[in-house]
Amino acid sequence: MREKSLAWSERFAFGIDAIDDQHRRLFDYLERLDASLRRGEGWLALRELLDEVAHWADLHFAVEEALMEIMGYPGAAAHIEGHRRFKAALDGYRTQAVTDSIAHQTSELLYGWLTEHIDGDDRKYAEYFRQRLGPGAG
Ligand SMILES: [Fe+2]
Ligand SMILES: [Fe+2]
Repeated sequence: MREKSLAWSERFAFGIDAIDDQHRRLFDYLERLDASLRRGEGWLALRELLDEVAHWADLHFAVEEALMEIMGYPGAAAHIEGHRRFKAALDGYRTQAVTDSIAHQTSELLYGWLTEHIDGDDRKYAEYFRQRLGPGAG
């Protein structure tokens, strides 16, 4: 049995406080989902947690997408497509939680997407923002 942590880690921090806080919160929800799956909780608890993940992901993506637009970020379209795919996958799990049962690995799959996205696409826009805003910008 794995004991991999799904927790937030400093290595995901960009130094943009609002974004880092939102990412941390998404990790918190994934940890709660993971704990719920491990305890074998019923569909209602899982669906509620997935709804919270989806709600936070929606808010967070809206903030990122608005910032990218304001900053004229050239990679915005591809980035937004990544958000769209994540939301589609999450919607699939939300439906599945009610009609069927969701696999143990769901929290790990979501965690895998989140970490890859933060380390890849999100880090790129953070770097672009820093360059546009110049030294000293947080
Ligand atoms: Fe993003
Ligand atoms: Fe993000």
